[in-house]
Amino acid sequence: MKVSPPAPPLSDGTVTLRPLTPGDVPEVTLACRDPEIVRWTTQIPEDYTEEHARVWIESTSAGWAKGNAEFAITETQTSALAGAIGLFARESWVAEIGYWMAAPFRNRGLATRALALVSDWGDSLGFVRLQLMMLPGNEASARIATKAGFNEEGLLRAYVKQRGSIKDVVMWSRVKQQCREEAVVWASVRQCHPAEGKASRGITKTLPSVFAAFT
Ligand SMILES: CC(C)(COP(=O)(O)OP(=O)(O)OC[C@H]1O[C@@H](n2cnc3c(N)ncnc32)[C@H](O)[C@@H]1OP(=O)(O)O)[C@@H](O)C(=O)NCCC(=O)NCCS
Repeated sequence: MKVSPPAPPLSDGTVTLRPLTPGDVPEVTLACRDPEIVRWTTQIPEDYTEEHARVWIESTSAGWAKGNAEFAITETQTSALAGAIGLFARESWVAEIGYWMAAPFRNRGLATRALALVSDWGDSLGFVRLQLMMLPGNEASARIATKAGFNEEGLLRAYVKQRGSIKDVVMWSRVKQQCREEAVVWASVRQCHPAEGKASRGITKTLPSVFAAFT
């Protein structure tokens, strides 16, 4: 699934999200040298160098065509790079979100704002399920997920690799309520009238396309 940078950029007046550019290499390098970012993320290498930042930022431009939308989180007033957030299409109806904030910008509500902006944008793109995966114990991330309307679903055992080590991960999601309700109705129609369920596949054509995910 191809995605394009939203125009105008996603913003709530306090944070603005924009695509990453080669000019972000120094700030990204500095931010990703923070052991807290290394500790709580799975992909960011230890001993982060400018070369890591340059290669990653370059990959983000090609990512849009593959459904990977990665943004710099900037402070609207100063344009300073405060962090990064990405939305990654996993299925036509599922997208995963990941983020980090540079240490000096934490605990000011900026990540919560960025997560809300990207989640609402993901909804507008037609994703039914948005998901977040957190290493157990990441209380700050759990807090912002809760504030952005996500619910904790449970622990997935031995589910991710963090720099060579297999780790458990906590899955969180935000699912479009309307789609959930429609799915429940459709499931009960099929349960009560199995023949109808088979014979009336055409019904799904009259429902929103995202509904097809549940049939
Ligand atoms: C998780 C992270 C993105 C949060 O960014 P942030 O800009 O500080 O987030 P916000 O300011 O919007 O909200 C942080 C919330 O967590 C709370 N918090 C921070 N540290 C906490 C801790 N150790 N225990 C419990 N709550 C904590 C804050 O009090 C705040 O909640 P409040 O608004 O109710 O007071 C940031 O800490 C980070 O980059 N961590 C390292 C990388 C990471 O964990 N990425 C996510 C991987 S899933």
